[in-house]
Amino acid sequence: MTDPHLDFFERLDWFSREDGQRLLAELAWSRQECPVVHSRYDGGQYVVTRYDDLRTIGEHPEIFSSSTPGVQHVPVALPPLDLDPPLHRDFRQFLNPYFSRSFLQRYVPEMQRLADSLIDNVIDSGRIEFVSQFAIPFTAGSLARVVIDDDNDARMKRAIEAVTGVATGDQSAYERVAGVAAEILSERSADTTGRDDVLQSLVTARVDGGRGLSLVEQLGVVTVLLLGGLDTTRGTIAHIGRYLAELPGFEQRLRRPEWVRHDLDELLRYTSAVSVMGRTVTQDNELLGRPLKKGDRLAVHWQSGNRDEAKFEHADEIRFDRPKNPHLAFGVGIHRCLGQQFARLQIEVAVERLLRRLTGLAVVPGTMIKETVGVVAGAPEQMFLSFATIAD
Ligand code: HEM
Repeated sequence: MTDPHLDFFERLDWFSREDGQRLLAELAWSRQECPVVHSRYDGGQYVVTRYDDLRTIGEHPEIFSSSTPGVQHVPVALPPLDLDPPLHRDFRQFLNPYFSRSFLQRYVPEMQRLADSLIDNVIDSGRIEFVSQFAIPFTAGSLARVVIDDDNDARMKRAIEAVTGVATGDQSAYERVAGVAAEILSERSADTTGRDDVLQSLVTARVDGGRGLSLVEQLGVVTVLLLGGLDTTRGTIAHIGRYLAELPGFEQRLRRPEWVRHDLDELLRYTSAVSVMGRTVTQDNELLGRPLKKGDRLAVHWQSGNRDEAKFEHADEIRFDRPKNPHLAFGVGIHRCLGQQFARLQIEVAVERLLRRLTGLAVVPGTMIKETVGVVAGAPEQMFLSFATIAD
């Protein structure tokens, strides 16, 4: 007779709602009983569930390659996500400065205005569908501005519409974003006016001992920024909206400016917006306590690591009094999230602008909260909230 837990993982479909409902409990079983557990998904992969094993993977990119970075094959180039050293380092070196907190500060006033305008749209009605009326347009607009920083207002508007299209699941919108980016890149190549932004870095960067990027690589970076930056930050903001509505005392907590330093990491740990990513084994090894062969694929479950009781006491609860929080929400090692400061900044701006004008958020009676499935799992996908306004 087959074991029901092993059987669950064998048949697991990462994008099934039914499997998603059982997944956290099954991952807890796996951490206890079988921490590297086989699945038939997408041709076969081992799901890695313990915190320490996930760190080992992050610390050995030469053995655990990112050439197939997702739980399923994606037929497009996604640098730097799908690169290994040494080329990976070249890409991170020129991209990192554009995602530092100090560089991103220049976009904060615009992010604040965007948040304010979204709140303006709903303030009189006392009610908001929090995801489509706030979390999506705010994160898509912020990301479009940072990635496609263009002076041409009409083109910027097109970029924001296209990025918002991607954020709402319109697959053809990727092409529209790539079209806008390619148009700007072709103008920028001749540009010597000293622009300093993400697209310009794609034109001027030198990798691999001195060559420039191909157009496929340039557009690959734009694509990975959309893939990495949209559902993730929007999911986390949507979770926070839900906690504002459901957790007693949570609004008061977020009204203290220091919440960003103390509490945000616990929310990132608990929500783990990027629940799972992929790796491919490059040489036979037993680093994870079971024989793995060259070519084996792994599903590295960051969220499971973040719920590992061996690392975090009461891991399945939000606890704001953890003395340390070395969570894996942004991954670990060389692929650690490029956009983490940007994500933090967006979350910070979103919460600050919302709570300047709204209070007492509550789920509208009789409405259901629909949740996401897939890599960004369990985030509110549709959520009607009511609120009271704070007088100016
Ligand atoms: C709360 C929000 C976010 C979470 C939880 C998150 C999580 C992660 C995780 C776990 C990884 C590691 C993937 C791996 O090791 O295979 C990663 C990588 C990455 N993220 Fe994020 N991310 C977030 C926001 C963003 C944003 C806003 C951007 C875009 C600006 C972004 C861009 C990237 C990129 C480009 C990588 C690949 C880095 C590399 O391979 O060197 N992420 N992210």
